[in-house]
Amino acid sequence: MEKSIGSRLLCVAESIPECRTLVDCGCDHGYVSIYAARNGIAERITASDINRGPLDNAEKEIAAARLTGKIKTVLTNGLDGIEHHDCVVIAGMGGETIMDIISRAEWTKEDCTLVLQPMTKTELLREYLYNEGFGITDEKFVSENGHLYCVIIAKHCGGAGYEPFEKYISRAGLSSPNADEYMDKIIARLAYEYERKCGAGALSDEEKEKSEMLIASLSKMRRTI
Ligand SMILES: C[S@@+](CC[C@H](N)C(=O)[O-])C[C@H]1O[C@@H](n2cnc3c(N)ncnc32)[C@H](O)[C@@H]1O
Repeated sequence: MEKSIGSRLLCVAESIPECRTLVDCGCDHGYVSIYAARNGIAERITASDINRGPLDNAEKEIAAARLTGKIKTVLTNGLDGIEHHDCVVIAGMGGETIMDIISRAEWTKEDCTLVLQPMTKTELLREYLYNEGFGITDEKFVSENGHLYCVIIAKHCGGAGYEPFEKYISRAGLSSPNADEYMDKIIARLAYEYERKCGAGALSDEEKEKSEMLIASLSKMRRTI
């Protein structure tokens, strides 16, 4: 029987474009790879993990799904030793780990779609992608167990510059379902941080002005949703 993979992972899996080769980096249970194999999304699938325990777990799940031989499993740090794939999924990891993995695999800049689901440091990750010449082609917000997760789809395009607000939500994300809820949370957090720092006298006039402009521009974007 097909296991339910939950709305977060389903959103990740459904964001994978039809492709020839797919790597599910940090696969753990292997559910994304299994979904992709069952649904004919990729011709060749690699499920990788840095730890033996999760990889054993993935191998068990893959065997239970009768997909052994259809999904290759690899024990490695990030994408080390893995050659070019058309699509890379990195889900359920911190933004900094995701950046580190991408930065050590130059081939991710060559005709490769990234499907990223960061658990932390999402703003740093967006900034990193823009600065490295990736464009965010789509961004989705998915709710699971009361938490709103973000799924970023990116592809290298040489870079086009970006406005300060795009660190907090990509242009593509503005028209996605749940973008209003996502932005409300971001604006509330920035406003809270601003008030706290102002109260502690921790902001220069220049920093105050910058924060106010950012909150105002995000609030303006929010009104357009
Ligand atoms: C919280 S689980 C997420 C599993 C799955 N991708 C998901 O979203 O549900 C994180 C997985 O990433 C693996 N991991 C952490 N750092 C890694 C790295 N540098 N390279 C590959 N896998 C890594 C962990 O071993 C673990 O299995």
